[in-house]
Amino acid sequence: MKRILVTGGAGFLGSHLCDRLLDLGEDVLCIDNFFTGSKRNISHRFSHPHFELLRHDVTFPLYVEVDQIYNLACPASPVHYQHDPVQTTKTSVHGAINMLGLAKRLRAKILQASTSEVYGDPEMHPQREEYWGRVNPIGIRSCYDEGKRCAETLFFDYHRQLRLEIKVMRIFNTYGPRMHPNDGRVVSNFIVQALKGEDITIYGDGQQTRSFCYVDDLIEGMIRLMGTPPDFTGPVNVGNPGEFTMLELAERVLQLTASKSKLIFKPLPEDDPRQRKPDINLAKTKLGWEPKVSLEDGLKETIAYFEKTIANNSFGIRS
Ligand SMILES: NC(=O)c1ccc[n+]([C@@H]2O[C@H](COP(=O)([O-])OP(=O)(O)OC[C@H]3O[C@@H](n4cnc5c(N)ncnc54)[C@H](O)[C@@H]3O)[C@@H](O)[C@H]2O)c1
Repeated sequence: MKRILVTGGAGFLGSHLCDRLLDLGEDVLCIDNFFTGSKRNISHRFSHPHFELLRHDVTFPLYVEVDQIYNLACPASPVHYQHDPVQTTKTSVHGAINMLGLAKRLRAKILQASTSEVYGDPEMHPQREEYWGRVNPIGIRSCYDEGKRCAETLFFDYHRQLRLEIKVMRIFNTYGPRMHPNDGRVVSNFIVQALKGEDITIYGDGQQTRSFCYVDDLIEGMIRLMGTPPDFTGPVNVGNPGEFTMLELAERVLQLTASKSKLIFKPLPEDDPRQRKPDINLAKTKLGWEPKVSLEDGLKETIAYFEKTIANNSFGIRS
């Protein structure tokens, strides 16, 4: 049994990762400052003998004994990361320094949850790992994009300078149960609006595209990446290359929820990329991974989760 630290473990992806690791028989230490995460996401594990939860902010050093570290702590949606942009950059940069320092002391393998946002508003489509990106360094999204880029730099410098075993995963849009309902992300927005019979908000003309990866596929990719040989560092794209316009997504959600909501159009937010789609050839070759869950099946699971959440009002959803 390995002792595994998951930072941001009470969040959307982190809680699914804790579940998978426990199911694999590992010992999990979940740390979180509960900025966007919630105890609700992991409360079903509280009595598990190999699960431990610690309230901790990664911008401060942490002294624990573990064999592996998954560094996921960071708010991921624009409404949350723009709420306190200075803290967002600190979480990515100081958080990476603190977790890399811990990994260095323990000689532990460490995985960074990076993001497709490191590609910014890309001129290359689909995005491959060699592409350096087109990121605005002074815009309202920069605290997140540049914070994550700096974290990648730190990971590779610790690897080159201190021979630390690192894995860098560039995560593309992921959705599924336990997403925060009020975080402004498109899948949760559309589903919650459709279930409540409210207007569905489309930004711009709705022709911008995104790819959506179901959470179970993503976590499988993450665990496989951690299991790769020491000479494979990434960065590696993990996401679903299936591409949908916002209008197509809205129509599927309306159909699956049998909702009578209407579509309304609002101006595009600043620096919103027009297209985002991963090239996953590296993940296919190195991880033997590709997504398996269709958008339709993933949406059904997610809709079922939000139906329950709204019925219990368990996330304080405005009614
Ligand atoms: N979900 C996606 O589509 C997506 C895409 C790209 C990258 N990512 C990355 O994956 C990771 C997890 O994303 P998520 O979607 O689960 O988001 P999330 O907001 O649900 O989870 C982030 C977790 O980190 C915690 N956190 C934030 N700041 C912290 C700090 N200073 N110290 C300790 N904990 C802190 C939050 O409370 C939350 O539990 C993030 O690093 C994010 O950048 C996610």
